[in-house]
Amino acid sequence: MNSIKFMNMKPCCRILLPCKNTAFPKSPTLSYSKTNFTNTQFNNHSFHSYPARVLRFSTIFSQSQKPCSVPTSTWGQSRIFSNTCCYNFSKIPHHVVAGVASNIRNFSTSIETRVNDKNFERIYVQGGINVKPLVVDKIDLDENVAKDQEDRSEIENVDKSVENDRLNEAASVKVGKEESEVEKEAWRLLRSAVVTYCGSPVGTVAANDPNDKLPLNYDQVFIRDFIPSAFAFLLKGEGEIVRNFLLHTLQLQSWEKTVDCYSPGQGLMPASFKVRTVALDDNKFEEVLDPDFGESAIGRVAPVDSGLWWIILLRAYGKLTGDYALQERVDVQTGIKLILNLCLSDGFDMFPSLLVTDGSCMIDRRMGIHGHPLEIQALFYSALRCSREMLALDDGSKNLVRAINNRLSALSFHIREYYWVDLKKINEIYRYKTEEYSTEATNKFNIYPEQIPNWLMHWIPEEGGYLIGNLQPAHMDFRFFTLGNLWSIVSSLSTPKQNESILNLIEGKWDDLIGQMPLKICYPAVESEEWRIITGSDPKNTPWSYHNGGSWPTLLWQFTLACMKMGRGDLAKKAIESAEKRLPVDRWPEYYDTRNGKFIGKQARLYQTWSIAGFLTSKMLLENPEMASVLFWEEDYDLLEICVCGLSNSSRKKCSRGLAKSQILV
Ligand code: GLC
Repeated sequence: MNSIKFMNMKPCCRILLPCKNTAFPKSPTLSYSKTNFTNTQFNNHSFHSYPARVLRFSTIFSQSQKPCSVPTSTWGQSRIFSNTCCYNFSKIPHHVVAGVASNIRNFSTSIETRVNDKNFERIYVQGGINVKPLVVDKIDLDENVAKDQEDRSEIENVDKSVENDRLNEAASVKVGKEESEVEKEAWRLLRSAVVTYCGSPVGTVAANDPNDKLPLNYDQVFIRDFIPSAFAFLLKGEGEIVRNFLLHTLQLQSWEKTVDCYSPGQGLMPASFKVRTVALDDNKFEEVLDPDFGESAIGRVAPVDSGLWWIILLRAYGKLTGDYALQERVDVQTGIKLILNLCLSDGFDMFPSLLVTDGSCMIDRRMGIHGHPLEIQALFYSALRCSREMLALDDGSKNLVRAINNRLSALSFHIREYYWVDLKKINEIYRYKTEEYSTEATNKFNIYPEQIPNWLMHWIPEEGGYLIGNLQPAHMDFRFFTLGNLWSIVSSLSTPKQNESILNLIEGKWDDLIGQMPLKICYPAVESEEWRIITGSDPKNTPWSYHNGGSWPTLLWQFTLACMKMGRGDLAKKAIESAEKRLPVDRWPEYYDTRNGKFIGKQARLYQTWSIAGFLTSKMLLENPEMASVLFWEEDYDLLEICVCGLSNSSRKKCSRGLAKSQILV
């Protein structure tokens, strides 16, 4: 490996994490505490001086992390190095600075049903002012609630052991099954994509084509790309790489990162990282982890989805390995809270959906998805559901849990009600009146019917429907985005009926959405003038290529999971079979081009890891429904009851959420 030349690097641009002192206890049963990482251990190592932010531990303590004087909260124990320094508390709202003591896993939506003294709905629909959307500081956890949580914890423990038994059974079924030649090749390729750090596996490179002379950043471990690899390893019973990945990326989260000396919020997870070898003074080499938070990424895009995927993976790791100790660790709990803090913090936004810039997810280039893209909302929703399960509940975190429940409820209402389109809804929009100034408006977002695209009028089938790509004032992005729709099914962001309808639509529009290679990333492509304006004339995103209507085999695993949840394994099987025929012959491309995915993508990488892993994961999910079932979420009926708007039951008719609920939410 090459050593990197630090002299060429601009100050403020790199944060490198050397592997000395970062060893994690390997046994999955060990839990981490500050006593595992004493000063003595650090002092045993000799430190060398590096310029600027190329830091080793001695300087990391003094520069990268901001010392502060908040003394005794358990927050202070929350990171490996916290006995010597702590975080910039000024950035962290008080309700998130929480002690972590108990390991009670919480599902208690019941708390929320008591919260109805604030007008939560008004904040985005009725135009109310001075209304805080997150009612987090008011209600104390009373004894009944605490008892309720204790009971839930007991039930949970029983559930857990039943679940583990089920998983063991499922695992033995899996072991008995003979792998096909294609699967064997896929496993060989997946294993050869594994990246090690100080001798331990920590992730997989994005693409591993030996003939690629210009890999750009495809030789890095991308957080989102690693998810299907992680699922493949977990389903195979190999948890170590996933555990290492979760812990190492957690460490990367904690460093200050900058783009032109501006720091994004703490808690942001990198888009990717690379294991680099650096030269030490005495002709020796050392491995370091070098994260990219967008400061090197093409377009400097913010990886909003990374933290959400990290939380989703953390939960899946617990479910599939039974190693719940990992998520209970104080530093891991802190990591979850930092991510949530970023996502739940107050802003100027009027909607409960998460506001992001263009390119903040799998589509990491300009594609006109800034605002409230569906993919981010679906990941956000499932990350909130995961966090609610995993957060240790105590006095310090109860407000955060309450905020999560409130947001889950508001978000699902918002998406189910306003993002959903089918024939009937499009006809309604077609007849919308505009410029309605009132809290009672039907056309709340002032959508001009003229913006219903021509293609949609012809395309929308009698049966089926889908969630649109984005919603803003006077703007509905009617494109069908596959990942957002699939993950809405998986996480139950959409209603059971909507879930069915989405799969009906995919089945009905098979040639458009699956075609010769599953699955279309979005439909349709933007063309001509629209392409020029929306993509900024991006030559990689020409119509029916790459993000602009290309076909991405990696989406197969999310499709499989969604189909299995809805009892439509037949659809997944059909898609997998067609992919299986082509992928190995085509050398596992990253994406396909043309309307129905006929050609290997113009600039597609070959031996793209998440195409390989997505295929393997799909196969294993299909063969192990028991395991698949712990990876999706059913409807949470309690959430539907939560409405924190200030209107009392007697004046419910004024609450648009209350009114709409009966029609759309069940
Ligand atoms: C491209 C994709 C992105 C992926 C990365 C690495 O940038 O758009 O989603 O994570 O490649 O494969």
